[in-house]
This record gives sequence, structure tokens and C-alpha cells, in this order.
Amino acid sequence: MRKEVELFDVFHETLAKLAGDGILLVAGDPPNPMTIGWATLGHIWNKTIMTVLVRPVRYTYNLMESTTDFSVCILPDRYRKELNICGTKSGRDINKIEDCKFDIAKCIKAESFFISESTIHFECRIVHKHLLDPATLEPGIIKRYYPQEDYHMVYYGEVLGIYTKT
Ligand SMILES: Cc1cc2nc3c(=O)[nH]c(=O)nc-3n(C[C@H](O)[C@H](O)[C@H](O)COP(=O)(O)O)c2cc1C
Repeated sequence: MRKEVELFDVFHETLAKLAGDGILLVAGDPPNPMTIGWATLGHIWNKTIMTVLVRPVRYTYNLMESTTDFSVCILPDRYRKELNICGTKSGRDINKIEDCKFDIAKCIKAESFFISESTIHFECRIVHKHLLDPATLEPGIIKRYYPQEDYHMVYYGEVLGIYTKT
């Protein structure tokens, strides 16, 4: 069972997990989970927006390019091993849902799936995207994070619903 909550109810925990072992971006049908450590949460266009950054080399990039909706799932601390699998293996090579023995469920508002084991999940719809532009990016960031010029695609997801496990 899931309960709909407000952003402020889960904001702190979501940012803490991002800065810790990461959280899962789930896209595609069948769904593929990818660990992410970078995201922002805020308010734009009178909507609650979550931005996620995906390098074009990822399998998840192909999935995000062929869909409108995705979910972001936050797991309990004991799922460190699974977060590592989802952050080091590609859905091109293995079925990460099966390998991690995740139970998946259909999203409540979005056309996507979420991981039932998650304590919090966000359901999002892409309303904007852009590729990071090196011409306007601080040179120190380019040097540190993009030596191979594999600039992230930034997806702006309108948050359709935020849910916790009951
Ligand atoms: C803690 C952690 C955070 C990560 N954050 C991101 C991220 O924000 N964006 C990204 O493109 N890749 C990120 N990665 C790398 C992807 O999770 C990894 O390359 C994954 O295997 C890609 O899976 P896919 O090919 O199934 O999409 C992260 C990996 C780890 C371990």
C-alpha cells in the first residue's frame, strides 16, 4: 500500500540518500533501474520539478528518450548491494529487476513502474530536457566531470505524485 505525501515530508531523506549510496531512476517497459547520485528537486512553472541527469552512453538514456514518464525510487539502507548492481551493470547486458529480485508495480499516476521495496517513490512526467552545454559550463566542472565530453542530458520531470510505503 502507498500513501501520497508532500515534498517536504520526504525532502530531507531524499537528499540524504542522494548524497549517500544513491537512489534509483526507473524507466522503460520492461522497467530498468539505474542508480543516480545527482538530482534536484524544486519549483518551476508552478509545478514541482525533479531533474535527473543521464549520460547518453547509458541504456537508461535510450529508455528516457523513448518515454514520457519515469519513477525515482528510494530504498532502505539494507539495499546497498542492489544499488551497487544498478549503478555498475547495464540493462543492456542483464535484467537488473531479476538480478536484484525486485518486485515491481505500476505507477499510480505516471505511465511507468516503481519498485515495491522502496520506502519513497516519485512519479514524474518529462516536461523539458536539454543537453549540458560546455560553452556555458564552468571549466572546472568540465575538467573534473566531463574529460570524455559525455555531457549529461538533463530531464525535467513534473512530479505527478510522491508516495511512501504504509
Ligand atoms: C552512486 C552512483 C551514482 C550514479 N549517478 C549517476 C547519475 O546521476 N547519472 C548517470 O548517468 N549515471 C550515474 N551513475 C552510473 C550508472 O548508474 C551506471 O553507469 C549504470 O550501470 C547504468 O545503467 P544502464 O546502462 O542500465 O542505464 C551512478 C552510479 C553510482 C554507483
